This record gives sequence, C-alpha cells and structure tokens, in this order.
Amino acid sequence: MVMRTVRPVVLLACLVQTSMAAAEPGAAVPALIPRPAQMSVQAVCFELKPTSEVIVGTADAEVRAVAGYLADHLRTLTGNALPVTERATSDGLFPAGSLVLLGGPGDRQAAGEEAYTLRITPTEVRLEAAHARGLFLGVQTLRQLAQPVLTTGPAPAGAACTFPCVEISDVPRYRWRGMLLDCGRHFMSKEFIKRYIDLLAYHKLNVLHWHLTEDQGWRVQIKKYPKLTEVGAWRGQGEQRYGGFYTQDDVREIVAYARSRYVTIVPEIEMPGHCQAALAAYPELSCTGGPFEVSTQWGVREDVYCAGNERTFEFLEDVLSEVIALFPSEYVHIGGDECPKARWQACPKCQARMRAEGLRDENELQSYFVRRIERFLNSHGRRLIGWDEILEGGVAPDATVQSWRGLKGAVAAAGANHDVICSPTTHCYLDYAQAKHPEEPTQMGYVPLETVYSFEPTPPELSAEAARHILGAEGNMWTEHAPEARVDWQVFPRLCALAEVMWSPREARDWGDFQARLRVHYARLDALGVNYYVPAPRFVRDGQVVTQGVFSGALAVSLDNPFGAGELFYTVDGSEPTAASLRYQAPVELKETTVLKARTLLPNGRTSCSAEARFERSD
Ligand code: ACM
Ligand code: ZN
Repeated sequence: MVMRTVRPVVLLACLVQTSMAAAEPGAAVPALIPRPAQMSVQAVCFELKPTSEVIVGTADAEVRAVAGYLADHLRTLTGNALPVTERATSDGLFPAGSLVLLGGPGDRQAAGEEAYTLRITPTEVRLEAAHARGLFLGVQTLRQLAQPVLTTGPAPAGAACTFPCVEISDVPRYRWRGMLLDCGRHFMSKEFIKRYIDLLAYHKLNVLHWHLTEDQGWRVQIKKYPKLTEVGAWRGQGEQRYGGFYTQDDVREIVAYARSRYVTIVPEIEMPGHCQAALAAYPELSCTGGPFEVSTQWGVREDVYCAGNERTFEFLEDVLSEVIALFPSEYVHIGGDECPKARWQACPKCQARMRAEGLRDENELQSYFVRRIERFLNSHGRRLIGWDEILEGGVAPDATVQSWRGLKGAVAAAGANHDVICSPTTHCYLDYAQAKHPEEPTQMGYVPLETVYSFEPTPPELSAEAARHILGAEGNMWTEHAPEARVDWQVFPRLCALAEVMWSPREARDWGDFQARLRVHYARLDALGVNYYVPAPRFVRDGQVVTQGVFSGALAVSLDNPFGAGELFYTVDGSEPTAASLRYQAPVELKETTVLKARTLLPNGRTSCSAEARFERSD
C-alpha cells in the first residue's frame, strides 16, 4: 500500500530573520556555498529510509538523468541504491519518504532555466524547477545539505543520512559563472578535467573556459594539421621533453561529460599571439618564416601569426571548423591578449595589408584580424570572446570582452553595448599566491581569499542598461607555475568565494559568515579529495603579526592559526616542523636568538606551508 502524505505545508512561524536565511529557534542554518538567494530553516529533519525512492514527475530524459545522478550520490552516502521511479499524480501527493523532482522540460530562459525551489519536510524532499538544469543545481544543494558529510569511501549499506528541513528558493545572480583552466602551459589528464567539471558543478559554476593553445603547447588534435600535435604538443628535448594533447575522441568524451553536469566548455584557441607552438609546427604562418621551437620559457613571445598572409586565415578557419564541430558552445574564445606588434611592423605582407585595408596602425591590424575571425564564427552560428586587448583598434561588432587588466575593459565594453565577462587580475587570478609566503610562487602577485570574496563584478559606474551586459565572471587558473598536482592548492578555497560572488545576491554576502560556512565546507572538500590551500601559522608579538624581531632579555611569541582548525607544531632549532615536533599550547618563551618555524597540521595529515621567523637577542 502506498502511504500518502498531506501536501507538505511548512510552517515558518517564529523564525529568526537573518539577511537571507530565516531560522527557527534551535535550527542551525546550513553552511551552503554558494549561499542561496532565499532560505528558511526548521529545527527538524528528513531522514532517508531504506524504502525511500527518487520520484520524477515526467518522462523527460534529462530529468530522469538528474534523478539518476541524485540516486548515485545518495548511494555513496548510505550504501543503498534508491530506485528512480516515474509517477504522475493529480493531487500532487507522493509516498512519504520520497525525494521528488518536479518540472523539467519547461522554461529555457537564461535565468529561469537555473532557478529551483527546494522544500524539505520531515516526510518529503521536493525539488522543483522549470528545467532539468535547475533540478541539477538543486541536487548540488541537496548534496551539501546531507548529514553527515561523507569523509571516506562509500558508506556501509544502511548508514544514516538526514537533511535539515529547509525551504529554499534559489536563482543565480550572474548567468556566466566560470573558471579558466590553462592546459597549454601544463597538460592535465582527461580524468583531471572531468574532476574539475564535477568540482565546478558542485559549486554551481557553469562554464569551463578551456585554454587549449599556448606558446608552450598545442593541446587539441586538429585532423587537417597533424603537426600541431605531433610537433606543437611537445616542448624540450630528451629527458626534459614534456607535453600531451587531447584527441578529438577525448574532447568529445569530456564535452559529453560536461554536458551531463550542465557545464559548458568554452574552448580558447589563441590568436594572433601566444601561438609559438603552432608556429613551431607551421612556421610559414609567421611573419619571418621561422624556424621556431615550442617555447620552454614563460612570458610573451614576439612571433605571432602573420596578419598579412591569407594562409593564416585559411589555417585558422580550418582549425576553428574542427573546433566548432567538437564543441557545442555558442561561444569560442580567440584570446587576443598580449600580441606584440614588432613582427607586423617589420613584415611587408602585414604592412601591405594595412595599406590595402586603410588601417592606421598595428592595433587596427589586430582589430581587422579579430573582426575577420568573428565574421567566420558568426557565419557558423557562433560568437566570439576575446581578452580586453580586442578593444584596442576597434572592437569587433558582436564580440564579448573578457576584462582581465582591471575592469576598465568591462566599463568600456559594456558602455559600448558589448557583453562582458569579468576576471580582473586583482580578484580573479587563481595563479597568484594566496598569501605572501616564501613557499608560495608570488612572482605573479598575490590575491588573498578575502579579496576574492570582496569582488564586485558589476562596476558601479555602469548605468543599469550597461550593467546588463555583465554576463558574469571567471576565476583564471593559469598554470605556468602550477602543474596538475598544484592546481587544487591554487584554486581552493578561492573558487568557493568566487562561486558565492557569482551566484548569491550581493546583499547576502558576508565575509564573517562565509568564513564560518567555509569551515564546514572544508569537510566536504576533504570528502571530494580536494587539496585546498591551508594558510601557514603567523607569529604574534605584543599583538602584532611579525616575521622577525629583535629583543633583549626574553620574548614571548604567540602563534596564530588563520585556518582556524587543526593543530600547530613548531621547532626552535631551524628544522622543519612535523607532527613529532613541539605542539603549540602557549606563547613560546625565547631567551636567545632563535629561528622559529611552525606549521598547521590537519587531522587528515594535510599540512600548511611552513612559517619561519628569526628573533635576535641584542643584549
Ligand atoms: C591574460 O592573463 N594574459 C589574459
Ligand atoms: Zn606578417
């Protein structure tokens, strides 16, 4: 017999109203990242039962796929395989204990498509959305609501799993919520890319901007130009030889995976600069004819595609034709940044092109280049994105501009009715260090978590009309100094902060509250195997953070743990601290010149960088 519940009515009497979350007395506000647009919480919960089912109210294949995805996650939490069943009701009632996914093949409007509501009562989880995409995003919320957080491996069959009773109505602030992953400087495995797609989805990001071509490596197979990967995917010689590329089958597999996670992959094929790997394969596309090697140094190269040579455009159109066939994304990123003009200035073909086209300078030649590529993309139903340098010399008519040198480009482009994606170095560059620390690569600069969290993608000087052109933002993970094994350390937890910047209402952002939620979220990141950044301890003298000091007589130095969890271990003999070193309990009394070193150690064995300070006795 099917048990019927009355249609769930959530009584939200005596709720305490915080900025975006209302909580009944005694109810803990769940630590969701990104924070939902609206949430109320009760002090009771829904418990998954062995008899629970995932119910869909439609035969829509996408909705069923989302339900299957939810059932898979619940299996890892409880060890139970929940059936996915389709039921239609005339009265809106479903068996008690069910997780019900309603809606689906409806509204495909940009914002509506991602909105969802989630109502959890003691008897039912009910997720509703106009489109499967919204249901998928609601499932990410459910994954974060599940208690307990799974910390290791699959749970034993029958493990308890509860969800706090909440009522959530959620919709993203921005429709473009992305992360750039540079696979040109360092090649990343197919499995690693899929893992990142999952991590993006978990934080409700929906764009993977896949940087596939660089001076240091060409990473995507192009059938018409095999040397791009035979030659261009490899740099260095002998033991130093390094590289790799994605076959077209690999790309199709990754694109299909991303599609199942509602993540769009936007490929970036760099032009007219950052193309030395391509020129190493096909030097005839340069102004000088080469020869070239795939770069083994970081930085900006002078050799770029020749803008006066028709073969350059034939080549790029051929490449883009294959790229378009692989990637369903409406947008194709063509780079456009950091293109030195020296070769064009000295090249007879480039100069002849400028005369023939009436172009005043090399910036206009770049603009000609980008406009021509845009015409090609538009004629194939695609749209062009370029870095903010594409504004110089005149922006192509339909181009979307990615503003990275601050937000000046965003203001100029949006003011001229161009769509914009914001990823200024100051707030969004995940290759920059998270702290000034000798073990962190600070040659690029540093962007602390709080700075990322404070990011406001919509420049205040824009009119309401122009502000509508701000599609969203991206975190940029350039990888000169980050092979695959380092990427998590750079990306997390800053991507969590950016996720909230891009998803949550502006007025819901609260740094203190975010930090508290992040402490809970770290357990989820642990469960997902994320090697997030752990800040090093700090030395405090007389209430001031110090990195060195001089004293006479004696000195008491305290250790501060900015991570807020784990234990601190230290040494006074210059050796590296380990779990076998002194455990910090009280200020360290120094009586002689001492090099203090300290580390934070987490219960799971992970550790921060080592902090070091020298205190010199002067008397
Ligand atoms: C860039 O960082 N060169 C876009
Ligand atoms: Zn040229």
